[in-house]
Amino acid sequence: MTIKTLLLLVSSSLLNKSSTAMIATHVKCRGGVYPRSTIQRVPVVDDEVSWSTEIKKYDPPDYTAQSVIGKPWADLDIADPNFKPKWNSIDGNVSRVSYLGDYSIVNGRPLNPMGRTGIKGRGVLGRWGPNHAADPVVTRWKKTDGKVNIQENSSRPILQFVAIKRRDTGEWALPGGMVDPGERVSAAAAREFQEEATNSLLMSQAEKEAWQAKFNKFFSGGDVIYKGYVDDPRNTDNSWMETVAYSFHDESGDTVGALQLHAGDDAVGVRWVDLDRQVQLYASHQAIVKAVAEKLNAHY
Ligand code: BGC
Repeated sequence: MTIKTLLLLVSSSLLNKSSTAMIATHVKCRGGVYPRSTIQRVPVVDDEVSWSTEIKKYDPPDYTAQSVIGKPWADLDIADPNFKPKWNSIDGNVSRVSYLGDYSIVNGRPLNPMGRTGIKGRGVLGRWGPNHAADPVVTRWKKTDGKVNIQENSSRPILQFVAIKRRDTGEWALPGGMVDPGERVSAAAAREFQEEATNSLLMSQAEKEAWQAKFNKFFSGGDVIYKGYVDDPRNTDNSWMETVAYSFHDESGDTVGALQLHAGDDAVGVRWVDLDRQVQLYASHQAIVKAVAEKLNAHY
C-alpha cells in the first residue's frame, strides 16, 4: 500500500517571517501498536483519516493508560461527575484551546481536529483534547578553527542544533516538553531546554549564576517558528499534542553555543547535531528544524 502523506501547510501568518513548516499529519500516530502498550490501533487508510469521510464500521479500542489515571497533573476520567472541563477555553490555568480553532465535542469527548488515529481514549496523554508543549530550537553555526563551515553542494553555512535523546522512545528530538498549568509557552521552552540539555544540577553555584544571566538574555529573544498540531505517536481520537516551537539562534556561538551540554530530566543523551535533510527526529520535529534552516538561510 502506498502511504500518501497528508500535509498540513501551516500558513505563514502563524509563523515568524516567511518560514513555513510542513507538518505531516497522522503518519506517526496511525497504525501499529500504541506507545508503551500492547494495544493495536485499528487500521485507517489515508482517505479515511478525515472525520468527514464516513466509515461504515469504525470501532477503535478505547485506551487510557494506568500511568495517567489519578495523577495530579492529569485530567479526571471523562465520565467522572467531578470533571467539568471548559472545552475550547482557558479552563482555570489549563488551556483547552486548540491552535487549529474550535474542535468538536462528540458523545462528550473532544474530537481530534486532524481526524482518525485508530484509537480512542487518552492513551498516555494527561489531557483530553489538546495537550500543549513548547519546543526550543537552539542553533549555532558549525565552525572549524573559528571559520563557519560551508556545505559544498548547497554553498550554504551549516547550522547545528541541540537535540536530546528521549528517555521514552530513544529517538533524537528537540529538548521540549509540556507547558505547566498557568505557564507562558515561551517560558516553558526556555525551562525545558535548561532541564533537559544543561542539567543545572551538575553546575557549581557560581557557574549557575553566571549561566542564568546569559541564559535569561538569550532566551528572551526567540522567534516563533511553528505553532500548531504535532504528528505525535501518542495522539488518539480524543487527545492530541500541539506545540509552539521557538528558534533561538546564537550567531556568534559564544553564549549557548559555548555551553557544556548535559542530558537531564527526560533525556538520556544530548548533543549538537549538524542540520541537514538526513536527520531523523521524533514526531514533527524534522519539519520544524527544516523551517529554522530556511529562516536562517542555512544548508538543509
Ligand atoms: C515533547 C515536545 C514535542 C511534543 C509533541 C512533548 O512531549 O517534549 O518536544 O514537540 O511532545 O510531540
